[in-house]
Amino acid sequence: KALSLIGVPTDIGAGHRGASMGPEALRVANLAARLTKRGLDVVDRGNLQGPLNPWQPPVNGYRHLPEVVAWNQSVHEAIHAELADGRLPIMLGGDHCLAIGSISAVARHCRETGKTLRVLWLDAHADFNTADATPSGNIHGMPVACLCGNGPKELIEMGGHVPAASAAAFRQIGIRSVDEGEKRLVRESQVSIFDMRHIDEVGMKRTMEEALAGVDENTHLHISFDVDFLDPSIAPGVGTTVRGGPNYREAQLCMEMIADTGRVGSLDIVELNPAFDKKNQTARLAVDLVESLFGKSTLIR
Ligand code: ARG
Ligand code: MN
Ligand code: MN
Ligand code: MN
Repeated sequence: KALSLIGVPTDIGAGHRGASMGPEALRVANLAARLTKRGLDVVDRGNLQGPLNPWQPPVNGYRHLPEVVAWNQSVHEAIHAELADGRLPIMLGGDHCLAIGSISAVARHCRETGKTLRVLWLDAHADFNTADATPSGNIHGMPVACLCGNGPKELIEMGGHVPAASAAAFRQIGIRSVDEGEKRLVRESQVSIFDMRHIDEVGMKRTMEEALAGVDENTHLHISFDVDFLDPSIAPGVGTTVRGGPNYREAQLCMEMIADTGRVGSLDIVELNPAFDKKNQTARLAVDLVESLFGKSTLIR
């Protein structure tokens, strides 16, 4: 399988600066070489370009909306071009607002090819805020709402179809921080949530069986991996840490079970923030888990 790495060096949707350094941290942690060693054909396309972060307060509930739109348009075009070329795009974020561009492109590609989209959203947060519900105005807290058709026109229309993706395509795993107004929005939506309480009660194995139920030969699996999914004790290098996340082995099992389906079609690695990291350990952990996602096995046979 041919993989393309696409760096998107911006923190335009975040509340802390530094996710813009994520792509380089993943390169320093040897992402390309590790995947090549697994027998995959990997090309690093370099970085997309876009506006600098003007670091302004929110306007009508959104911070940096024009800049977020500009970055996401580039992401949408780049990701769609890779998919149209038969390649598997890996977006190196960048903050999670960029999933609007990547997932709208994946959804568009699925419509064009008759595939069924399933999005696995690995995150501490539901990212289902709106201008009214957001406590921060940071658009990285809104991508799932935007993709499901609830957000500013410029973002919900990306990819030429509203909603860009069906809420019923989403499975959110690892959720443990949802704002009050956001909770109601999520409950009223068709998004399926496997929160930490669920993972505690039934375990990661059953959780992943449930999240992957119904995946078949025609499914395109998109993984949106927000690094704050992981417990901060193992992954401190993110802007919005939330205690009580999956440990190393739980996260690895999650990736292994996704790999076992053989249906991974695209991936985002987002919210990695080297400014909060120690010796690039969080980037190295992310690379390790991505190796599992692409078939590194801990089985003895
Ligand atoms: N719910 C909070 C907000 O909307 C935090 C969102 C964090 N999102 C993320 N992709 N790290 O401001
Ligand atoms: Mn296409
Ligand atoms: Mn998050
Ligand atoms: Mn997120």
